[in-house]
Amino acid sequence: MSGLVPALMAAARSRRVRVSIAVLALALGCGARVCARENPTAANPVTGEAQAIKEGAALFRANCSPCHGPNAAGGGRGPNLSANHWTHGSSDADIFRTITRGVPGTDMPANDLEDLEVWNIVAYLRSLAPVHAAMSGDANRGERLFFQTQGCSVCHMVNGRGGVLGPELSRVGASRSSAYLVDSIREPDKVLSAAQLDPNDHYGLPLVYDTVTVTTAGGERIVGIAKNEDTFSIQLLDTQQNLRLFRKSELVQVSHEQKSLMPRYTEAMLSAPRLQDLLAYLTSLR
Ligand code: HEC
Ligand code: HEC
Repeated sequence: MSGLVPALMAAARSRRVRVSIAVLALALGCGARVCARENPTAANPVTGEAQAIKEGAALFRANCSPCHGPNAAGGGRGPNLSANHWTHGSSDADIFRTITRGVPGTDMPANDLEDLEVWNIVAYLRSLAPVHAAMSGDANRGERLFFQTQGCSVCHMVNGRGGVLGPELSRVGASRSSAYLVDSIREPDKVLSAAQLDPNDHYGLPLVYDTVTVTTAGGERIVGIAKNEDTFSIQLLDTQQNLRLFRKSELVQVSHEQKSLMPRYTEAMLSAPRLQDLLAYLTSLR
Protein backbone atom coordinates (compact mmCIF):
# COMPACT_ATOMS: atom_id res chain seq x y z
CA MET A 1 0.00 0.00 0.00
CA SER A 2 2.98 2.32 0.48
CA GLY A 3 3.34 2.80 -3.28
CA LEU A 4 -0.33 3.61 -3.64
CA VAL A 5 -0.29 7.05 -2.07
CA PRO A 6 2.41 8.50 -4.37
CA ALA A 7 0.64 6.85 -7.28
CA LEU A 8 -2.58 8.57 -6.23
CA MET A 9 -0.83 11.91 -5.88
CA ALA A 10 0.58 11.55 -9.39
CA ALA A 11 -2.78 10.46 -10.73
CA ALA A 12 -4.47 13.41 -9.05
CA ARG A 13 -2.62 15.69 -11.47
CA SER A 14 -4.57 14.24 -14.33
CA ARG A 15 -8.19 15.38 -14.44
CA ARG A 16 -9.39 12.32 -16.29
CA VAL A 17 -8.77 9.97 -13.37
CA ARG A 18 -10.45 12.13 -10.74
CA VAL A 19 -13.44 9.85 -10.39
CA SER A 20 -11.40 6.72 -9.86
CA ILE A 21 -9.27 8.60 -7.33
CA ALA A 22 -12.36 9.48 -5.33
CA VAL A 23 -13.33 5.82 -5.37
CA LEU A 24 -9.82 4.70 -4.43
CA ALA A 25 -9.62 7.34 -1.72
CA LEU A 26 -12.85 6.02 -0.27
CA ALA A 27 -11.45 2.52 -0.46
CA LEU A 28 -8.43 3.75 1.48
CA GLY A 29 -10.81 5.04 4.10
CA CYS A 30 -9.76 8.69 4.33
CA GLY A 31 -12.03 11.07 6.25
CA ALA A 32 -14.64 12.97 4.27
CA ARG A 33 -12.78 16.25 4.71
CA VAL A 34 -9.46 14.86 3.54
CA CYS A 35 -11.17 13.27 0.57
CA ALA A 36 -12.69 16.61 -0.36
CA ARG A 37 -9.18 18.04 -0.32
CA GLU A 38 -7.72 15.27 -2.47
CA ASN A 39 -10.47 15.83 -4.98
CA PRO A 40 -11.83 19.40 -4.69
CA THR A 41 -14.85 20.30 -6.78
CA ALA A 42 -13.61 21.37 -10.18
CA ALA A 43 -15.02 24.90 -10.07
CA ASN A 44 -14.93 27.53 -7.37
CA PRO A 45 -18.43 27.80 -5.83
CA VAL A 46 -17.88 31.49 -4.98
CA THR A 47 -16.27 32.75 -8.22
CA GLY A 48 -16.84 36.45 -8.82
CA GLU A 49 -18.82 37.05 -5.61
CA ALA A 50 -17.91 40.44 -4.18
CA GLN A 51 -18.03 39.31 -0.55
CA ALA A 52 -15.85 36.26 -1.27
CA ILE A 53 -13.27 38.40 -3.07
CA LYS A 54 -13.18 40.82 -0.15
CA GLU A 55 -12.70 38.04 2.39
CA GLY A 56 -10.15 36.34 0.14
CA ALA A 57 -8.18 39.59 -0.08
CA ALA A 58 -8.08 39.91 3.72
CA LEU A 59 -7.03 36.27 4.14
CA PHE A 60 -4.37 36.74 1.49
CA ARG A 61 -2.95 39.81 3.17
CA ALA A 62 -2.75 38.01 6.51
CA ASN A 63 -1.39 34.65 5.33
CA CYS A 64 0.24 35.00 1.96
CA SER A 65 1.46 38.56 1.39
CA PRO A 66 4.74 38.14 3.32
CA CYS A 67 5.91 35.95 0.43
CA HIS A 68 3.64 36.88 -2.49
CA GLY A 69 3.48 40.64 -1.89
CA PRO A 70 0.53 42.76 -0.69
CA ASN A 71 -1.24 42.61 -4.07
CA ALA A 72 -0.02 39.14 -5.06
CA ALA A 73 2.39 40.61 -7.62
CA GLY A 74 5.40 39.14 -5.82
CA GLY A 75 7.68 40.86 -3.37
CA GLY A 76 8.96 38.37 -0.85
CA ARG A 77 10.15 34.86 -1.57
CA GLY A 78 7.11 33.82 -3.57
CA PRO A 79 6.26 34.30 -7.25
CA ASN A 80 3.87 36.82 -8.79
CA LEU A 81 0.38 35.26 -8.60
CA SER A 82 -1.33 37.97 -10.62
CA ALA A 83 0.23 37.28 -14.03
CA ASN A 84 -2.20 34.47 -14.87
CA HIS A 85 0.80 32.19 -15.42
CA TRP A 86 0.45 29.04 -13.30
CA THR A 87 3.25 26.53 -12.94
CA HIS A 88 1.28 24.10 -10.81
CA GLY A 89 -1.95 24.02 -12.79
CA SER A 90 -4.35 26.79 -13.73
CA SER A 91 -7.81 25.34 -12.97
CA ASP A 92 -9.64 26.40 -9.80
CA ALA A 93 -9.14 22.88 -8.43
CA ASP A 94 -5.39 22.99 -9.19
CA ILE A 95 -4.96 26.32 -7.39
CA PHE A 96 -7.06 25.05 -4.47
CA ARG A 97 -4.79 22.03 -4.22
CA THR A 98 -1.58 24.09 -4.41
CA ILE A 99 -2.82 26.33 -1.60
CA THR A 100 -3.90 23.52 0.73
CA ARG A 101 -1.02 21.11 0.09
CA GLY A 102 1.73 23.60 -0.65
CA VAL A 103 4.56 22.73 -3.04
CA PRO A 104 6.77 20.14 -1.36
CA GLY A 105 10.47 20.90 -1.52
CA THR A 106 9.91 24.66 -1.96
CA ASP A 107 9.13 27.58 0.34
CA MET A 108 5.41 27.24 -0.43
CA PRO A 109 3.86 25.82 2.76
CA ALA A 110 0.76 23.66 3.13
CA ASN A 111 -2.19 25.44 4.77
CA ASP A 112 -4.98 24.25 7.00
CA LEU A 113 -7.45 26.97 6.04
CA GLU A 114 -11.13 26.00 5.78
CA ASP A 115 -12.24 24.96 2.28
CA LEU A 116 -14.43 28.08 1.93
CA GLU A 117 -11.51 30.29 2.97
CA VAL A 118 -9.37 28.72 0.26
CA TRP A 119 -12.11 29.27 -2.33
CA ASN A 120 -12.37 32.90 -1.21
CA ILE A 121 -8.64 33.29 -1.82
CA VAL A 122 -8.97 31.66 -5.26
CA ALA A 123 -11.83 34.09 -6.04
CA TYR A 124 -9.58 36.97 -4.96
CA LEU A 125 -6.64 35.79 -7.12
CA ARG A 126 -8.95 35.38 -10.12
CA SER A 127 -10.27 38.92 -9.63
CA LEU A 128 -6.85 40.51 -10.09
CA ALA A 129 -6.02 42.29 -13.31
CA PRO A 130 -2.96 40.51 -14.74
CA VAL A 131 0.32 42.22 -13.89
CA HIS A 132 3.12 41.16 -16.21
CA ALA A 133 6.64 42.20 -15.44
CA ALA A 134 7.90 44.09 -18.48
CA MET A 135 10.78 42.09 -19.95
CA SER A 136 13.22 44.11 -21.98
CA GLY A 137 16.21 41.80 -21.69
CA ASP A 138 17.64 39.13 -23.97
CA ALA A 139 17.56 35.68 -22.38
CA ASN A 140 20.37 34.29 -24.58
CA ARG A 141 22.66 37.13 -23.59
CA GLY A 142 21.55 36.54 -19.99
CA GLU A 143 22.57 32.90 -20.21
CA ARG A 144 26.05 33.88 -21.42
CA LEU A 145 26.34 36.40 -18.58
CA PHE A 146 25.34 33.66 -16.15
CA PHE A 147 27.75 30.97 -17.35
CA GLN A 148 30.61 33.10 -18.65
CA THR A 149 30.98 36.82 -18.09
CA GLN A 150 29.58 37.17 -14.55
CA GLY A 151 30.51 33.76 -13.21
CA CYS A 152 27.17 33.11 -11.53
CA SER A 153 27.54 29.43 -12.40
CA VAL A 154 30.68 29.18 -10.28
CA CYS A 155 28.28 29.05 -7.33
CA HIS A 156 24.91 28.18 -8.85
CA MET A 157 23.76 25.07 -10.68
CA VAL A 158 21.23 25.27 -13.53
CA ASN A 159 20.06 22.00 -15.10
CA GLY A 160 23.08 20.08 -13.89
CA ARG A 161 25.75 22.66 -14.78
CA GLY A 162 27.49 24.82 -12.19
CA GLY A 163 28.60 24.99 -8.58
CA VAL A 164 26.87 24.20 -5.31
CA LEU A 165 27.80 27.05 -2.97
CA GLY A 166 24.53 28.86 -3.72
CA PRO A 167 21.02 27.52 -4.30
CA GLU A 168 20.13 25.52 -7.41
CA LEU A 169 18.40 27.91 -9.83
CA SER A 170 16.88 25.52 -12.41
CA ARG A 171 13.30 26.52 -11.44
CA VAL A 172 13.94 30.01 -10.08
CA GLY A 173 11.64 31.66 -12.65
CA ALA A 174 8.67 29.70 -11.31
CA SER A 175 9.50 30.09 -7.66
CA ARG A 176 10.47 33.76 -7.36
CA SER A 177 9.20 37.15 -8.54
CA SER A 178 11.34 39.50 -10.63
CA ALA A 179 11.49 41.94 -7.71
CA TYR A 180 13.01 39.21 -5.54
CA LEU A 181 15.51 38.28 -8.26
CA VAL A 182 16.64 41.90 -8.60
CA ASP A 183 17.17 42.13 -4.83
CA SER A 184 19.00 38.78 -4.80
CA ILE A 185 21.51 40.16 -7.30
CA ARG A 186 21.83 43.79 -6.23
CA GLU A 187 21.45 43.26 -2.46
CA PRO A 188 22.07 39.61 -1.61
CA ASP A 189 21.99 40.35 2.12
CA LYS A 190 18.44 41.72 2.03
CA VAL A 191 16.51 38.45 1.88
CA LEU A 192 18.69 35.42 2.42
CA SER A 193 17.62 32.22 0.74
CA ALA A 194 15.81 29.60 2.77
CA ALA A 195 14.94 31.64 5.80
CA GLN A 196 18.36 32.33 7.18
CA LEU A 197 17.04 35.45 8.92
CA ASP A 198 13.98 33.78 10.30
CA PRO A 199 15.06 33.16 13.89
CA ASN A 200 11.61 32.08 14.99
CA ASP A 201 11.58 29.54 12.19
CA HIS A 202 8.16 30.90 11.36
CA TYR A 203 7.51 28.68 8.37
CA GLY A 204 9.52 25.71 9.58
CA LEU A 205 12.19 26.06 6.91
CA PRO A 206 15.74 24.77 7.34
CA LEU A 207 18.59 27.29 7.55
CA VAL A 208 20.44 26.28 4.44
CA TYR A 209 22.49 29.25 3.23
CA ASP A 210 24.01 30.56 6.40
CA THR A 211 27.46 32.11 5.90
CA VAL A 212 29.70 30.98 8.72
CA THR A 213 33.28 31.77 9.68
CA VAL A 214 35.13 29.34 11.91
CA THR A 215 38.48 30.03 13.56
CA THR A 216 40.65 27.04 14.44
CA ALA A 217 42.92 26.83 17.48
CA GLY A 218 45.84 27.35 15.06
CA GLY A 219 44.35 30.70 13.98
CA GLU A 220 43.13 29.58 10.56
CA ARG A 221 39.85 31.20 9.46
CA ILE A 222 37.57 29.27 7.13
CA VAL A 223 34.52 30.84 5.55
CA GLY A 224 31.71 28.79 4.10
CA ILE A 225 28.09 27.74 4.12
CA ALA A 226 26.94 25.69 7.13
CA LYS A 227 25.50 22.43 5.86
CA ASN A 228 25.02 20.85 9.25
CA GLU A 229 25.56 21.99 12.78
CA ASP A 230 24.94 20.53 16.20
CA THR A 231 26.30 21.14 19.69
CA PHE A 232 29.56 19.30 19.01
CA SER A 233 30.34 19.73 15.34
CA ILE A 234 29.84 21.85 12.26
CA GLN A 235 30.06 20.89 8.61
CA LEU A 236 31.11 23.69 6.27
CA LEU A 237 31.10 23.88 2.50
CA ASP A 238 34.09 26.22 2.13
CA THR A 239 34.48 28.78 -0.66
CA GLN A 240 36.52 26.23 -2.66
CA GLN A 241 33.38 24.05 -2.42
CA ASN A 242 35.08 21.39 -0.29
CA LEU A 243 33.00 19.89 2.50
CA ARG A 244 34.86 20.17 5.81
CA LEU A 245 33.91 18.77 9.19
CA PHE A 246 35.06 20.46 12.40
CA ARG A 247 34.72 19.36 15.98
CA LYS A 248 33.68 22.41 17.96
CA SER A 249 36.09 21.55 20.77
CA GLU A 250 38.91 22.22 18.27
CA LEU A 251 37.56 25.64 17.26
CA VAL A 252 38.12 28.99 18.93
CA GLN A 253 35.13 30.64 17.32
CA VAL A 254 32.11 29.89 15.16
CA SER A 255 30.37 33.01 13.89
CA HIS A 256 27.18 33.17 11.90
CA GLU A 257 27.53 36.27 9.73
CA GLN A 258 23.83 36.71 8.91
CA LYS A 259 24.85 37.79 5.45
CA SER A 260 25.23 36.26 2.03
CA LEU A 261 28.35 34.72 0.57
CA MET A 262 27.20 36.08 -2.77
CA PRO A 263 28.92 39.29 -3.91
CA ARG A 264 26.76 42.40 -4.37
CA TYR A 265 26.46 43.01 -8.09
CA THR A 266 26.47 46.80 -8.18
CA GLU A 267 25.71 48.93 -11.27
CA ALA A 268 29.44 49.24 -11.85
CA MET A 269 29.80 45.43 -12.10
CA LEU A 270 26.51 44.76 -13.86
CA SER A 271 24.77 47.57 -15.75
CA ALA A 272 20.97 47.96 -15.71
CA PRO A 273 20.54 46.57 -19.28
CA ARG A 274 22.70 43.51 -18.46
CA LEU A 275 20.65 42.97 -15.30
CA GLN A 276 17.56 42.88 -17.54
CA ASP A 277 19.26 40.23 -19.72
CA LEU A 278 19.97 38.13 -16.63
CA LEU A 279 16.37 38.55 -15.47
CA ALA A 280 15.03 37.46 -18.85
CA TYR A 281 17.19 34.33 -18.56
CA LEU A 282 16.39 33.59 -14.90
CA THR A 283 12.63 34.05 -15.30
CA SER A 284 12.72 31.62 -18.25
CA LEU A 285 13.97 28.86 -15.91
CA ARG A 286 10.88 26.84 -14.95
C1 HEC B 1 6.94 31.25 3.01
C2 HEC B 1 6.55 31.85 1.74
C3 HEC B 1 5.17 31.56 1.19
C4 HEC B 1 3.94 31.71 1.81
C5 HEC B 1 3.65 32.15 3.24
C6 HEC B 1 2.96 31.39 0.80
N1 HEC B 1 3.56 31.06 -0.38
FE1 HEC B 1 2.62 30.49 -2.09
N2 HEC B 1 4.42 30.10 -2.94
C7 HEC B 1 5.65 30.35 -2.37
C8 HEC B 1 6.69 29.93 -3.29
C9 HEC B 1 8.20 30.05 -3.09
C10 HEC B 1 6.05 29.38 -4.41
C11 HEC B 1 6.71 28.79 -5.66
C12 HEC B 1 6.83 27.29 -5.52
C13 HEC B 1 7.66 26.72 -6.65
O1 HEC B 1 8.89 26.78 -6.55
O2 HEC B 1 7.08 26.23 -7.63
C14 HEC B 1 4.61 29.52 -4.16
C15 HEC B 1 3.64 29.11 -5.06
C16 HEC B 1 2.28 29.36 -4.90
C17 HEC B 1 1.27 29.04 -5.87
C18 HEC B 1 1.50 28.33 -7.21
C19 HEC B 1 1.73 29.34 -8.29
C20 HEC B 1 1.84 28.67 -9.66
O3 HEC B 1 2.55 29.22 -10.51
O4 HEC B 1 1.22 27.62 -9.89
C21 HEC B 1 0.07 29.49 -5.36
C22 HEC B 1 -1.28 29.40 -6.02
C23 HEC B 1 0.36 30.06 -4.06
N3 HEC B 1 1.71 29.96 -3.82
C24 HEC B 1 -0.61 30.62 -3.24
C25 HEC B 1 -0.35 30.97 -1.92
C26 HEC B 1 -1.38 31.38 -1.00
C27 HEC B 1 -2.85 31.57 -1.36
C28 HEC B 1 -0.78 31.58 0.21
C29 HEC B 1 -1.42 31.97 1.52
C30 HEC B 1 -2.49 31.12 2.00
C31 HEC B 1 0.65 31.32 0.02
N4 HEC B 1 0.85 30.96 -1.27
C32 HEC B 1 1.59 31.45 1.02
C33 HEC B 1 5.88 30.91 -1.14
C34 HEC B 1 4.91 31.15 -0.18
C1 HEC C 1 30.44 33.29 -4.55
C2 HEC C 1 29.26 32.53 -4.86
C3 HEC C 1 28.13 33.19 -5.63
C4 HEC C 1 28.16 33.86 -6.85
C5 HEC C 1 29.38 34.16 -7.72
C6 HEC C 1 26.80 34.21 -7.15
N1 HEC C 1 25.97 33.78 -6.17
FE1 HEC C 1 23.94 33.95 -6.14
N2 HEC C 1 23.90 33.16 -4.25
C7 HEC C 1 24.98 32.66 -3.57
C8 HEC C 1 24.56 32.23 -2.25
C9 HEC C 1 25.45 31.62 -1.17
C10 HEC C 1 23.18 32.48 -2.17
C11 HEC C 1 22.27 32.20 -0.96
C12 HEC C 1 22.30 33.33 0.03
C13 HEC C 1 21.52 34.51 -0.47
O1 HEC C 1 20.30 34.48 -0.45
O2 HEC C 1 22.17 35.47 -0.97
C14 HEC C 1 22.79 33.07 -3.45
C15 HEC C 1 21.50 33.44 -3.80
C16 HEC C 1 21.09 33.77 -5.07
C17 HEC C 1 19.72 33.93 -5.51
C18 HEC C 1 18.48 33.70 -4.66
C19 HEC C 1 17.97 32.30 -4.91
C20 HEC C 1 16.70 32.00 -4.19
O3 HEC C 1 15.90 31.25 -4.73
O4 HEC C 1 16.50 32.49 -3.07
C21 HEC C 1 19.74 34.28 -6.83
C22 HEC C 1 18.55 34.55 -7.73
C23 HEC C 1 21.12 34.37 -7.22
N3 HEC C 1 21.92 34.06 -6.14
C24 HEC C 1 21.55 34.71 -8.50
C25 HEC C 1 22.88 34.93 -8.82
C26 HEC C 1 23.31 35.49 -10.08
C27 HEC C 1 22.39 35.90 -11.23
C28 HEC C 1 24.68 35.58 -10.02
C29 HEC C 1 25.62 36.18 -11.05
C30 HEC C 1 25.32 37.55 -11.44
C31 HEC C 1 25.10 35.02 -8.74
N4 HEC C 1 23.97 34.65 -8.05
C32 HEC C 1 26.40 34.89 -8.32
C33 HEC C 1 26.26 32.59 -4.04
C34 HEC C 1 26.73 33.16 -5.21
